[in-house]
Amino acid sequence: MGTQELPHAWLETRFGRVYNADSLDVMRSSPPESVHLIMTSPPFALTRKKDYGNEQEDAYLEWFRPFAEQFFRLLRDDGSFVIDLGGAWKPGAPVRSLYHFKLLILLCEEFGFHLAQEFYWWNPSKLPTPAEWVNVRRVRVKDAVNTVWWLSKTPWPRASNRRVLQPYSDSMKGLLTTGYRAKRRPSGHEISKNFARDNGAAIPPNLIALPNTESNSWYLRYCNENDIKPHPARFPAALPEYFVRMLTDPGDRVLDPFAGSCVTGEVAERLERRWTCVEREEEYLRGAKGRFMPRSRQAAAKTHSAKPREDGYYRIPHPGLLWTEQANKPLPTDGGRKRPQRESPPEPAHPSRRRTAKRQLSLNETRACSH
Ligand SMILES: C[S@@+](CC[C@H](N)C(=O)[O-])C[C@H]1O[C@@H](n2cnc3c(N)ncnc32)[C@H](O)[C@@H]1O
Repeated sequence: MGTQELPHAWLETRFGRVYNADSLDVMRSSPPESVHLIMTSPPFALTRKKDYGNEQEDAYLEWFRPFAEQFFRLLRDDGSFVIDLGGAWKPGAPVRSLYHFKLLILLCEEFGFHLAQEFYWWNPSKLPTPAEWVNVRRVRVKDAVNTVWWLSKTPWPRASNRRVLQPYSDSMKGLLTTGYRAKRRPSGHEISKNFARDNGAAIPPNLIALPNTESNSWYLRYCNENDIKPHPARFPAALPEYFVRMLTDPGDRVLDPFAGSCVTGEVAERLERRWTCVEREEEYLRGAKGRFMPRSRQAAAKTHSAKPREDGYYRIPHPGLLWTEQANKPLPTDGGRKRPQRESPPEPAHPSRRRTAKRQLSLNETRACSH
């Protein structure tokens, strides 16, 4: 039994409860080993703070400790804890914080969690930021991946990858048609004839490609119509849905202790898992309420049964498509420490100029070869 009384639920649905409270209080009042999946995205250790407040890198681990303690206590031995964390830049220099890696090590080495698997959520629609390092000084590339740590209390959490299969890629479909010759790969792996057996679908990699571009959802319309500020850092529903499907059965219990706009709750409700969402900012819950109106449940079901655009694959180019030897300007000798002067925009292409440029290119090619 819990040690203190649970606060009153702010909202109750058929399968779930929402609390407007500090999740530490709710968790401390909840029975041990009662949760099958903790699916969450806490505030990140960002330099630029969001409205709801973010802990700075140094204080982050200290801030997280009491939550980790409760997560371990509440989770069943066969349960999972999935945490989505965006990376962060250190202030004033193009270097990254290590907070999400340090947190992973803390959770495993201090609290006894196991790393069942690390996932990377690639958001193809991520903007190139921070502009200063990426667009102006051009010394870093776009940061477009969040780490998603899948942790468990034992090495054997309940899970099945059959719940998250994907359609075969065109190349795999080709192999299935033309057949695959069993052989040993240079890596030493034996690829047997079974590799080319059609199992109906492919096992996904630990890279989840998912844009975060919700723009006309019922949630946003509900917020707009009711003059509510939408939550500024929502994850796309398919992210919690992936793990709820892979790691729980209907009737299991799912907890999101940093619930924001209750995306996890919406997914769990639709998939008939029992769920608890806890969020301390009431404004976010006022918006979240819209997710549980009958009309929005229908709208959500429709969105999810709809086919994604095209074939549902996101294409990422081979990194070498534009590699040429001639186009390389020398690297900035100061590593980008000094802000470059604005480059004048390229001159418009004119047929005669294009010819000159071509001649120049072949001259450079000759020079490059002569070194
Ligand atoms: C990154 S947001 C989560 C967004 C959510 N995944 C969604 O899609 O809407 C983190 C949330 O945790 C909330 N939060 C921070 N500390 C909390 C605490 N101790 N108890 C409850 N909520 C907390 C913040 O107010 C914020 O809304």
